[in-house]
Amino acid sequence: MKPDTYIPFLDLKAVNQRFEPQLSQSALQVVRAGQYLVGEHTEKFEQEFGAYIGTRHVLAVSNGTNALELILRGYREQGLLQPNDEILVPANTFIATFLAIVNQGMVPVPVDPGLQTFLPDLPALKRSLGTKTKALVLIHLYGRTAYSEAIAEWANSQGLLLIEDNAQAVGSQWNAKKTGSLGHAAAHSFYPTKNLGALGDAGAVTTDDPELAACVRALAHYGSTEKYRYAYTGFNFRMDEIQAAALRVKLPHLDRDNQQRALLAARYLERLSHPDLLLPEPESRPFYHTWHLFTVLTEQRDSLRSYLASQGIETAIHYPVPPHRQPAFASLLQGYQLPVTEKIHRQTLSLPLHPALSEEQQDYIITCINRW
Ligand SMILES: Cc1ncc(COP(=O)(O)O)c(C=O)c1O
Repeated sequence: MKPDTYIPFLDLKAVNQRFEPQLSQSALQVVRAGQYLVGEHTEKFEQEFGAYIGTRHVLAVSNGTNALELILRGYREQGLLQPNDEILVPANTFIATFLAIVNQGMVPVPVDPGLQTFLPDLPALKRSLGTKTKALVLIHLYGRTAYSEAIAEWANSQGLLLIEDNAQAVGSQWNAKKTGSLGHAAAHSFYPTKNLGALGDAGAVTTDDPELAACVRALAHYGSTEKYRYAYTGFNFRMDEIQAAALRVKLPHLDRDNQQRALLAARYLERLSHPDLLLPEPESRPFYHTWHLFTVLTEQRDSLRSYLASQGIETAIHYPVPPHRQPAFASLLQGYQLPVTEKIHRQTLSLPLHPALSEEQQDYIITCINRW
């Protein structure tokens, strides 16, 4: 690579350039058609995404956080969840999952994950179960499938609702089933950096439960079941037509993009050889991994990060401070000891990995890391 090399952590312009001119044409078509909400693209995207994920119902919504809130609120409206119910949730995650739970009046119970899978296992979930536990949110973090039959059977035996947070793993699978079709309901995010990224905020709820689907649809439209009739005190959490149109351009290429991510992840796993790095576990069936993020652990994280920056390589940290250490949760989550989560947050570093990253760029990153 040339001395003035710069490799951004994520090159969204390059990622979306691959969908031109269709992407721009789809946006222009919406502008010219004059239907900006609840139109043909939203309806078709719901059908196409349902066929892809394998659920009977898809509700296109404003973003992934709102999708989670709508599911929780839907269960409240149905009397299946109540304020102050406890919900098990992985401790090492993005804040949105915690926010959705708290904003619906429930209590998140953070569960420590494993170090190389970044996901809680069944014994950890069992230890966190309390008398007020009513649901479990499985987050397919970084793209790795968090579901297992054993977890589902246990959740079922305890009468827990199984909710998937599929924000980071659209396209991942457990056996032949897509994540997002494994639990009672799932939330998806199409935030621009996600594996299936829109041109702004967007998200979806998927479920096979017709009552929940009808309730969520109403809740996302101000709570209305028909125009100017309100069954619930709902929200305005709809997806824009322009986002649905963009997602329809990109969805047919998602599997190809995820395969490219898997190829790049396999190259990192094979070639990174620095002794101070702990690499993520490779994917192994029946669990899939869409490699939304490729994260390594090292005690010298800050030194590695600045060394790579000096070589023109941008990295990221997902995430620097865990939810239970955030000021927002200072009183609600005080007293939790989550040593694995805290270690991950101290040591984790995300390396560039996206479908527009070239093998030449990746080879340079690998050479720099091994030389560090
Ligand atoms: C694990 C997880 N859950 C939920 C969300 C929320 O999605 P959104 O940003 O679309 O609200 C995100 C993403 O940003 C996420 O990474």
